[in-house]
Amino acid sequence: MADGRFYITTPIYYVSDVPHLGHAYTTVVADAISRYQRMTLGRDRVRFLTGTDDHGQKIERQAAERGQAPKAYADRIAGEYQATWRQLGIANDDFIRTTDPRHEAVVLDLWSRMVERGDIYLRDYEGWYCVPCEQFYLDKELAEGGVCPVHRRAVERVKEQNFFFRLSAYQERLVAFYDNVQRRTGRPFVEPQNRMNEVRAFVEAGLQDFSVSRTNFTWGIPVPGRADHVIYVWMDALTNYYSATRDEASPLAGFWADDVEIVHLIGKEISRFHAIYWPAMLMSAGLRPPSRVFAHGWWTVDGEKMSKTRGNVVDPVRLAGDLGADAFRYFVLREVPLGADGDFSHEALLQRYNAELANDLGNLLNRTLGMVSRYLGSDVAAPVDDPPALTGSVTAAIQAYVEQMDRMNTSAALAALWGLVREGNTFIERSAPWKQGKAEQEQILWNALEVLRIVGHLVSPFMPERSVELLRQMGREGEAPHLPGWGAGKPFHVQPGTPLFPRIDDVRRAELLARWAPRPQEPGPEETQEGASAAASQGLPVALQESPAAPADKPPVQFDEFGRLDLRVARITAAERVPKKDKLLKLTVDAGEAAPRTVVAGIAAAYAPEALVGRTVILLANLKPAKIGGVLSQGMVLAAGGEAIVGLSTVDVDCPPGTPVR
Ligand code: ME8
Repeated sequence: MADGRFYITTPIYYVSDVPHLGHAYTTVVADAISRYQRMTLGRDRVRFLTGTDDHGQKIERQAAERGQAPKAYADRIAGEYQATWRQLGIANDDFIRTTDPRHEAVVLDLWSRMVERGDIYLRDYEGWYCVPCEQFYLDKELAEGGVCPVHRRAVERVKEQNFFFRLSAYQERLVAFYDNVQRRTGRPFVEPQNRMNEVRAFVEAGLQDFSVSRTNFTWGIPVPGRADHVIYVWMDALTNYYSATRDEASPLAGFWADDVEIVHLIGKEISRFHAIYWPAMLMSAGLRPPSRVFAHGWWTVDGEKMSKTRGNVVDPVRLAGDLGADAFRYFVLREVPLGADGDFSHEALLQRYNAELANDLGNLLNRTLGMVSRYLGSDVAAPVDDPPALTGSVTAAIQAYVEQMDRMNTSAALAALWGLVREGNTFIERSAPWKQGKAEQEQILWNALEVLRIVGHLVSPFMPERSVELLRQMGREGEAPHLPGWGAGKPFHVQPGTPLFPRIDDVRRAELLARWAPRPQEPGPEETQEGASAAASQGLPVALQESPAAPADKPPVQFDEFGRLDLRVARITAAERVPKKDKLLKLTVDAGEAAPRTVVAGIAAAYAPEALVGRTVILLANLKPAKIGGVLSQGMVLAAGGEAIVGLSTVDVDCPPGTPVR
């Protein structure tokens, strides 16, 4: 739809835990696709939405386990999501939460439209409910032993009078809709095709009405006129895609119109909700359905399901902090074709980083800019490209890139680009500018610069920040990312800077791998090995979806008890090992007082002392001084982890030592 508008969404994530690799993946893909669409369609025609799913029994229970009000709990995790997206360079146009009043109003509106249509009715119901799935199961759908087929744990018998949605009435309309999309666009409504086949088979086997209200908890949107019922969390959540477009103050306003290509990017485990329930709800409410649903695959880590027990949950923020957000983005976008399952390994990440970013791209840039400075005094006019050296390859690469990005295959688009980068390197070696006269040098280096300029623009959806720096070093500062064509004619004035992707040597590599190594923990109550392996075999999200709760064995504290803690921001000014104590480091910290303090911390396994100097930490300043490892410690720095420390607590903005923490 080259002349229309484009709107892409991610699932809204449960606020049950902080974001991990899987959430980051979906969001980075949607970000890359929307950036690409902005390059081709223009900024005004493209929108990208993400957000959080704040309601439901699961969240209500988790908040209660932590002694928190559900809203306060949701606020904290939603804040973590937003901070993570900032750190990963995500340029979403809006962030929607199901607790936003603007959203709740639209859910109620949709509800009343479905009631008017006669599609919502009240009925007694008894069934099996799985809270982590937030879904009822029929007897025949349960796994052996009567457990949830996804989580392999006990389901709850629920007997309620519930409102139901008449999904059974939409069977034929849904099948006709899928056929129609296929006919009109030449591609299935759900991609990849195998997911479409599953969805279609499910619909054709006969649809059952589904329950759309619950009465045994309250954390949700009350049903109009029946405050004892809350609206089913999936009905509430799916509506987010539409509700944001109804908000006049949002950049998304008006993006649920017929000319908009609406794409829902999701993980494969929630295809049914998006491909069946959601279009049926929209049909009932008299609204257009989305254009496409793309269900991507699941990431495992070193061949295993991510789980807190294994301690192998990949934290995107930590990787971005160590390697740069763009390197993380590049890796996940390059490693798997959209739709396939992927296996994440830290070795593979470092391997691609060195080979493809530091070597292939980094070298092409460094050597080209170096030679331009040395031989040509930093300036290259635009010479006539005769004989044409790289025109054909560049045009073919751009075409392949566009074709692949239109199919949302970021991996193949990057492969096409890297083919070009490698060709640029080979071209330089073959034409050996160091042996040539000035005119030839100018011709060769202009070609290399032109390849770099084109790559600089085309990588911007994947690596927005590094792309700006690349173009800056070529004297193209401030050029808005666009689809470039060969030979744009402008002269280059190069300004070499620091390497885009500094090579990681063996020492640093070992350090990083040690830092990122899994740290297994005791299994949480929800995360049995049995459940985990069943999930791995199905490629399903189990523990990730339900996110094991924090230790629930500490009794709640009153606010004034918490208030007795003197928590503040502090800066580490020196760090050294404590002799003969493997685990301990002696830190000197500036806590905003006249004199520095000494604090002993059991973090030597996670941090080298030199890596700590200059870091901002959170200090418990009124902990009674005590001798630890023979050193008097005047306070404690906060860190995350159980037996083994995995990271220091810090603040995500720069703030002076002594700032109170609440
Ligand atoms: O399902 N690999 O939220 P959620 C790839 N609130 N992607 C993964 C992943 C993994 N290992 N783990 C998670 C919900 N994801 C509902 C959605 S939408 C109206 C409501 C990603 O927090 C993937 O996108 O469980 C998956 O669909 C989503 O996170 C599930 O997030």
